[in-house]
Amino acid sequence: MQLHDLEKKFQEKIDKEIKIEPKDWMPEAYRKTNVRQISQHAHSEIVGMLPEGNWISRAPSLKRKAILIAKVQDEAGHGLYLYSAAETLGTSREQMIDDLHSGKAKYSSIFNYPTLTWADMGAVGWLVDGAAILNQVMLCRTSYGPYARAMVRICKEESFHQRQGFESLLVLSRGTPEQKAMCQDAINRWWWPSLMMFGPKDSESTNSDQSMKWKIKRKTNDELRQSFVNMAVEQVKLLGMTLPDPDLKWNEATKNYDFGEINWEEFWAVVKGNGPCNKQRLAARNKAHKEGAWVREAALAYAAKKAAREKAA
Ligand SMILES: [Fe+2]
Ligand SMILES: [Fe+2]
Repeated sequence: MQLHDLEKKFQEKIDKEIKIEPKDWMPEAYRKTNVRQISQHAHSEIVGMLPEGNWISRAPSLKRKAILIAKVQDEAGHGLYLYSAAETLGTSREQMIDDLHSGKAKYSSIFNYPTLTWADMGAVGWLVDGAAILNQVMLCRTSYGPYARAMVRICKEESFHQRQGFESLLVLSRGTPEQKAMCQDAINRWWWPSLMMFGPKDSESTNSDQSMKWKIKRKTNDELRQSFVNMAVEQVKLLGMTLPDPDLKWNEATKNYDFGEINWEEFWAVVKGNGPCNKQRLAARNKAHKEGAWVREAALAYAAKKAAREKAA
């Protein structure tokens, strides 16, 4: 079959909502876009464990500690499903991990911000996992089969993450004046970086059109960001707290909340590696990888021994 016909058949499948599977023919650019997106997503799950892992030993109660450990563990699982999904496209896990450690691959810029107080664990769950869910619910219907299926389970866990975050803020919001202040401060610091999680504006996003046509994405960055704002404005009322944006206002004509301009200079600085914690995060990942070398070697040696024993039997 000619390339043109293959491409036509491929697009027809997508239009009919038939999933693309690993052994199916696909345009090289589709493969590349998926590898980039899935591996970035996997890296985000793994690097995302760092700011929260920071608080496991300082959680205020046994219950909070158990919840936080479970959440961080879930994120590790998400990273592993996603690395596996990316591997079905012909890339190796070693390659992806090397690209993360060398700084070549990107991960969500949100994890380059520090977690300064306990309230940040609540704000991260509510806002960061909340923003992630909007993206991920849409990805349950993405056109590449292994990615879509990984997202189904991930979404169930993410909604637990968001609820636990909100509930933890709710307790603080009903606490002492200091706890209330800590809650508001965490919301103030995480609000804008959470809005940045949806990426550049549609007018500036280079990959958007093709990704929509291939149904890798089903909603644009701006659409998702708007749904997030609409949701958060209502939820913050239940906390009796405010969002740090004087321009937030209901727009009767569009039936959406208008909001202020994101600081795009900050966004690009963090994406390019100059956020508050970029260096620290990569250093922590590299250190963990180095320190885990003996575990990987031991597992390989054990697998080889087992295989040799089975062969001899
Ligand atoms: Fe996750
Ligand atoms: Fe999560």
